[in-house]
Amino acid sequence: MERVNGPLLEFTGVTLRFGGVTALDDVSFEVEPGELFAIIGPNGAGKTSIFNCLNGVYRPQRGTITLDGTSLLGRAPAAIAGLGVARTFQNLGLFAHLTLIENLMLGRHHLMHTGFFSGMFWWGRAKREEIAHRAAVEEIVELLELEPYRRMPAGLLPYGVAKRAELGRALAMEPRLLLLDEPVAGMNLEETEDTARYLLEVRRELGLAMILVEHDMSLVMDLADRVLALDFGVVIATGKPSEVQDDPHVIEAYLGGAA
Ligand SMILES: Nc1ncnc2c1ncn2[C@@H]1O[C@H](COP(=O)(O)OP(=O)(O)OP(=O)(O)O)[C@@H](O)[C@H]1O
Ligand SMILES: [Mg+2]
Repeated sequence: MERVNGPLLEFTGVTLRFGGVTALDDVSFEVEPGELFAIIGPNGAGKTSIFNCLNGVYRPQRGTITLDGTSLLGRAPAAIAGLGVARTFQNLGLFAHLTLIENLMLGRHHLMHTGFFSGMFWWGRAKREEIAHRAAVEEIVELLELEPYRRMPAGLLPYGVAKRAELGRALAMEPRLLLLDEPVAGMNLEETEDTARYLLEVRRELGLAMILVEHDMSLVMDLADRVLALDFGVVIATGKPSEVQDDPHVIEAYLGGAA
Protein backbone atom coordinates (compact mmCIF):
# COMPACT_ATOMS: atom_id res chain seq x y z
CA MET A 1 0.00 0.00 0.00
CA GLU A 2 1.41 3.36 -1.03
CA ARG A 3 1.24 6.15 1.54
CA VAL A 4 0.86 9.73 0.43
CA ASN A 5 2.71 11.36 3.30
CA GLY A 6 5.64 10.45 5.51
CA PRO A 7 9.17 9.30 4.86
CA LEU A 8 9.96 6.81 2.11
CA LEU A 9 12.33 4.85 4.33
CA GLU A 10 12.15 4.44 8.10
CA PHE A 11 15.19 2.73 9.59
CA THR A 12 14.51 2.54 13.32
CA GLY A 13 16.54 1.29 16.27
CA VAL A 14 18.57 -1.16 14.20
CA THR A 15 21.20 -3.22 16.01
CA LEU A 16 23.36 -5.71 14.08
CA ARG A 17 25.97 -7.92 15.77
CA PHE A 18 28.54 -10.37 14.45
CA GLY A 19 29.65 -12.40 17.46
CA GLY A 20 31.29 -9.84 19.74
CA VAL A 21 31.32 -7.06 17.12
CA THR A 22 28.43 -4.59 17.16
CA ALA A 23 28.39 -3.36 13.56
CA LEU A 24 25.26 -1.18 14.12
CA ASP A 25 24.17 0.02 17.53
CA ASP A 26 20.59 1.32 17.74
CA VAL A 27 20.84 3.19 14.42
CA SER A 28 17.83 5.30 13.36
CA PHE A 29 17.23 7.58 10.41
CA GLU A 30 14.59 8.42 7.81
CA VAL A 31 14.84 9.20 4.11
CA GLU A 32 12.23 11.41 2.45
CA PRO A 33 10.94 10.77 -1.09
CA GLY A 34 13.40 12.29 -3.58
CA GLU A 35 16.00 13.03 -0.90
CA LEU A 36 19.73 12.54 -1.40
CA PHE A 37 20.86 11.23 1.97
CA ALA A 38 24.55 10.57 2.65
CA ILE A 39 26.16 8.25 5.19
CA ILE A 40 29.75 8.98 6.23
CA GLY A 41 32.14 7.52 8.77
CA PRO A 42 35.62 6.02 9.12
CA ASN A 43 36.46 2.52 7.84
CA GLY A 44 34.49 -0.16 9.64
CA ALA A 45 31.93 2.37 10.96
CA GLY A 46 29.02 0.26 9.66
CA LYS A 47 28.09 2.06 6.43
CA THR A 48 27.96 -1.01 4.18
CA SER A 49 26.21 -2.93 6.98
CA ILE A 50 23.32 -0.45 6.75
CA PHE A 51 22.97 -1.30 3.05
CA ASN A 52 23.18 -5.01 3.77
CA CYS A 53 20.38 -4.71 6.33
CA LEU A 54 18.31 -2.62 3.93
CA ASN A 55 18.48 -5.08 1.07
CA GLY A 56 18.07 -8.26 3.08
CA VAL A 57 21.64 -9.60 3.01
CA TYR A 58 21.99 -9.19 6.81
CA ARG A 59 19.21 -9.70 9.34
CA PRO A 60 19.56 -7.27 12.27
CA GLN A 61 18.93 -8.57 15.79
CA ARG A 62 16.82 -5.54 16.67
CA GLY A 63 14.92 -2.72 15.00
CA THR A 64 12.51 -2.14 12.13
CA ILE A 65 13.05 -1.13 8.49
CA THR A 66 10.10 0.00 6.39
CA LEU A 67 9.77 1.29 2.83
CA ASP A 68 6.56 3.27 2.34
CA GLY A 69 5.21 1.54 5.42
CA THR A 70 6.05 -1.99 4.20
CA SER A 71 8.49 -3.94 6.39
CA LEU A 72 11.65 -5.08 4.61
CA LEU A 73 12.80 -7.33 7.46
CA GLY A 74 12.93 -11.03 6.72
CA ARG A 75 12.51 -10.56 2.97
CA ALA A 76 14.99 -12.00 0.49
CA PRO A 77 17.23 -9.58 -1.46
CA ALA A 78 15.35 -10.27 -4.73
CA ALA A 79 12.02 -9.48 -3.05
CA ILE A 80 13.41 -6.21 -1.68
CA ALA A 81 14.70 -5.30 -5.13
CA GLY A 82 11.19 -5.99 -6.40
CA LEU A 83 9.82 -3.50 -3.87
CA GLY A 84 12.03 -0.82 -5.41
CA VAL A 85 15.39 -0.84 -3.60
CA ALA A 86 18.35 -1.00 -6.01
CA ARG A 87 22.02 -0.93 -5.15
CA THR A 88 25.45 -0.49 -6.66
CA PHE A 89 28.46 -2.20 -5.14
CA GLN A 90 31.72 -1.01 -3.60
CA ASN A 91 33.40 -3.26 -6.18
CA LEU A 92 32.09 -3.47 -9.71
CA GLY A 93 29.12 -5.77 -10.17
CA LEU A 94 28.81 -6.05 -13.96
CA PHE A 95 28.97 -9.23 -16.06
CA ALA A 96 32.27 -8.77 -17.91
CA HIS A 97 31.39 -10.85 -21.00
CA LEU A 98 27.98 -9.26 -21.56
CA THR A 99 27.62 -5.97 -23.43
CA LEU A 100 26.65 -2.80 -21.64
CA ILE A 101 23.09 -3.04 -23.03
CA GLU A 102 22.78 -6.67 -21.93
CA ASN A 103 23.92 -5.73 -18.43
CA LEU A 104 21.26 -3.02 -18.29
CA MET A 105 18.60 -5.44 -19.59
CA LEU A 106 19.50 -7.80 -16.73
CA GLY A 107 18.74 -4.92 -14.35
CA ARG A 108 15.15 -5.12 -15.60
CA HIS A 109 14.86 -8.85 -15.07
CA HIS A 110 12.48 -8.58 -12.10
CA LEU A 111 10.18 -6.31 -14.15
CA MET A 112 9.85 -8.85 -16.98
CA HIS A 113 6.95 -11.25 -17.18
CA THR A 114 8.31 -13.44 -19.93
CA GLY A 115 11.85 -13.65 -18.54
CA PHE A 116 15.08 -12.54 -20.06
CA PHE A 117 15.74 -15.58 -22.22
CA SER A 118 12.24 -16.24 -23.55
CA GLY A 119 12.14 -12.46 -24.07
CA MET A 120 14.85 -12.93 -26.66
CA PHE A 121 12.41 -14.72 -28.98
CA TRP A 122 10.64 -12.32 -31.23
CA TRP A 123 7.03 -13.31 -30.93
CA GLY A 124 3.83 -11.93 -29.44
CA ARG A 125 3.89 -10.76 -25.89
CA ALA A 126 7.57 -11.49 -25.48
CA LYS A 127 8.32 -9.30 -28.47
CA ARG A 128 6.24 -6.39 -27.17
CA GLU A 129 7.83 -6.71 -23.77
CA GLU A 130 11.30 -6.87 -25.22
CA ILE A 131 10.67 -3.66 -27.16
CA ALA A 132 9.34 -1.84 -24.08
CA HIS A 133 12.31 -2.92 -21.98
CA ARG A 134 14.78 -1.97 -24.71
CA ALA A 135 13.18 1.49 -24.86
CA ALA A 136 13.48 1.94 -21.09
CA VAL A 137 17.13 0.87 -21.20
CA GLU A 138 17.89 3.21 -24.10
CA GLU A 139 16.49 6.13 -22.08
CA ILE A 140 18.96 5.38 -19.31
CA VAL A 141 21.79 5.03 -21.84
CA GLU A 142 20.92 8.48 -23.10
CA LEU A 143 20.61 10.01 -19.63
CA LEU A 144 24.05 8.70 -18.63
CA GLU A 145 25.60 9.43 -22.05
CA LEU A 146 26.61 5.81 -22.57
CA GLU A 147 25.74 5.60 -26.30
CA PRO A 148 29.32 5.09 -27.53
CA TYR A 149 29.70 1.99 -25.33
CA ARG A 150 26.38 0.25 -25.96
CA ARG A 151 27.77 -2.89 -27.61
CA MET A 152 31.03 -3.11 -25.73
CA PRO A 153 31.55 -6.03 -23.31
CA ALA A 154 31.45 -4.60 -19.77
CA GLY A 155 34.90 -6.05 -19.10
CA LEU A 156 36.41 -3.73 -21.70
CA LEU A 157 34.83 -0.50 -20.45
CA PRO A 158 37.12 2.17 -19.00
CA TYR A 159 36.77 2.24 -15.20
CA GLY A 160 34.75 5.45 -14.92
CA VAL A 161 32.38 4.29 -17.67
CA ALA A 162 31.96 0.88 -16.03
CA LYS A 163 30.95 2.55 -12.76
CA ARG A 164 28.43 4.64 -14.71
CA ALA A 165 27.14 1.49 -16.41
CA GLU A 166 26.64 -0.04 -12.98
CA LEU A 167 24.63 3.00 -11.99
CA GLY A 168 22.67 2.49 -15.22
CA ARG A 169 21.91 -1.11 -14.35
CA ALA A 170 20.60 -0.09 -10.93
CA LEU A 171 18.43 2.60 -12.58
CA ALA A 172 17.12 0.05 -15.08
CA MET A 173 15.38 -1.60 -12.12
CA GLU A 174 13.25 1.56 -11.79
CA PRO A 175 13.96 1.84 -8.08
CA ARG A 176 12.28 4.16 -5.62
CA LEU A 177 15.37 4.07 -3.44
CA LEU A 178 18.87 3.77 -4.86
CA LEU A 179 21.77 2.72 -2.63
CA LEU A 180 25.17 3.93 -3.83
CA ASP A 181 28.20 2.43 -2.08
CA GLU A 182 31.27 4.57 -2.80
CA PRO A 183 30.35 5.50 -6.40
CA VAL A 184 33.56 7.49 -6.95
CA ALA A 185 36.02 5.14 -5.20
CA GLY A 186 39.15 4.83 -7.35
CA MET A 187 38.10 7.62 -9.71
CA ASN A 188 40.24 10.56 -10.74
CA LEU A 189 39.03 14.12 -10.27
CA GLU A 190 37.47 14.38 -13.71
CA GLU A 191 35.58 11.09 -13.35
CA THR A 192 34.43 12.18 -9.88
CA GLU A 193 33.09 15.47 -11.21
CA ASP A 194 31.33 13.62 -14.05
CA THR A 195 29.72 11.25 -11.57
CA ALA A 196 28.48 14.15 -9.44
CA ARG A 197 26.94 15.68 -12.54
CA TYR A 198 25.26 12.40 -13.54
CA LEU A 199 23.88 11.85 -10.04
CA LEU A 200 22.36 15.34 -10.03
CA GLU A 201 20.95 14.71 -13.50
CA VAL A 202 19.45 11.35 -12.47
CA ARG A 203 17.90 12.95 -9.45
CA ARG A 204 16.42 15.79 -11.49
CA GLU A 205 15.10 13.54 -14.26
CA LEU A 206 13.93 10.55 -12.25
CA GLY A 207 13.26 12.11 -8.83
CA LEU A 208 14.15 8.97 -6.90
CA ALA A 209 15.59 8.93 -3.37
CA MET A 210 19.24 7.98 -2.94
CA ILE A 211 21.47 6.96 -0.07
CA LEU A 212 25.09 7.72 -0.80
CA VAL A 213 27.92 6.08 1.16
CA GLU A 214 31.10 7.93 0.33
CA HIS A 215 34.53 8.77 1.69
CA ASP A 216 34.94 11.72 -0.69
CA MET A 217 33.78 14.51 1.61
CA SER A 218 33.60 17.21 -1.06
CA LEU A 219 31.19 15.05 -3.09
CA VAL A 220 29.01 14.50 -0.03
CA MET A 221 29.02 18.21 0.81
CA ASP A 222 28.10 19.13 -2.78
CA LEU A 223 25.34 16.57 -3.32
CA ALA A 224 23.65 15.60 -0.07
CA ASP A 225 20.50 17.14 1.37
CA ARG A 226 21.30 15.58 4.75
CA VAL A 227 24.18 13.58 6.17
CA LEU A 228 24.37 10.90 8.84
CA ALA A 229 27.76 10.31 10.49
CA LEU A 230 28.56 6.92 12.02
CA ASP A 231 31.44 5.82 14.20
CA PHE A 232 31.80 2.27 15.52
CA GLY A 233 28.19 1.56 14.55
CA VAL A 234 26.81 4.52 16.52
CA VAL A 235 25.13 7.59 14.96
CA ILE A 236 27.21 10.57 16.08
CA ALA A 237 25.48 13.28 14.02
CA THR A 238 22.62 13.81 11.55
CA GLY A 239 21.85 17.07 9.77
CA LYS A 240 22.66 19.39 6.91
CA PRO A 241 26.11 18.78 5.37
CA SER A 242 27.56 22.00 6.81
CA GLU A 243 26.26 21.18 10.31
CA VAL A 244 27.64 17.64 10.26
CA GLN A 245 30.99 18.78 8.88
CA ASP A 246 31.45 21.17 11.83
CA ASP A 247 30.17 18.76 14.47
CA PRO A 248 32.86 18.16 17.13
CA HIS A 249 32.03 14.42 17.37
CA VAL A 250 32.51 14.05 13.62
CA ILE A 251 35.81 15.95 13.62
CA GLU A 252 37.02 13.80 16.51
CA ALA A 253 35.99 10.54 14.79
CA TYR A 254 37.99 11.46 11.70
CA LEU A 255 41.01 12.82 13.58
CA GLY A 256 40.93 9.78 15.86
CA GLY A 257 41.05 7.55 12.78
CA ALA A 258 43.97 9.49 11.34
CA ALA A 259 46.02 9.51 14.58
N1 LIG B 1 29.89 -10.51 7.46
C1 LIG B 1 30.55 -9.99 8.52
N2 LIG B 1 31.06 -10.80 9.47
C2 LIG B 1 31.72 -10.27 10.53
N3 LIG B 1 31.90 -8.96 10.74
C3 LIG B 1 31.41 -8.11 9.82
C4 LIG B 1 30.72 -8.57 8.66
N4 LIG B 1 30.34 -7.49 7.92
C5 LIG B 1 30.78 -6.41 8.58
N5 LIG B 1 31.43 -6.78 9.72
C6 LIG B 1 32.03 -5.88 10.71
O1 LIG B 1 31.11 -4.84 10.98
C7 LIG B 1 31.77 -3.60 11.12
C8 LIG B 1 31.21 -2.61 10.10
O2 LIG B 1 31.61 -3.03 8.78
P1 LIG B 1 31.12 -2.28 7.47
O3 LIG B 1 31.60 -3.07 6.31
O4 LIG B 1 29.67 -2.02 7.58
O5 LIG B 1 31.92 -0.90 7.56
P2 LIG B 1 32.03 0.30 6.51
O6 LIG B 1 31.64 1.53 7.26
O7 LIG B 1 31.30 -0.01 5.29
O8 LIG B 1 33.61 0.35 6.24
P3 LIG B 1 34.43 0.76 4.89
O9 LIG B 1 34.49 2.25 4.91
O10 LIG B 1 35.78 0.16 5.14
O11 LIG B 1 33.74 0.18 3.72
C9 LIG B 1 33.26 -3.87 10.95
O12 LIG B 1 33.82 -4.05 12.22
C10 LIG B 1 33.27 -5.16 10.17
O13 LIG B 1 34.43 -5.89 10.43
MG1 LIG C 1 31.87 -0.26 3.28
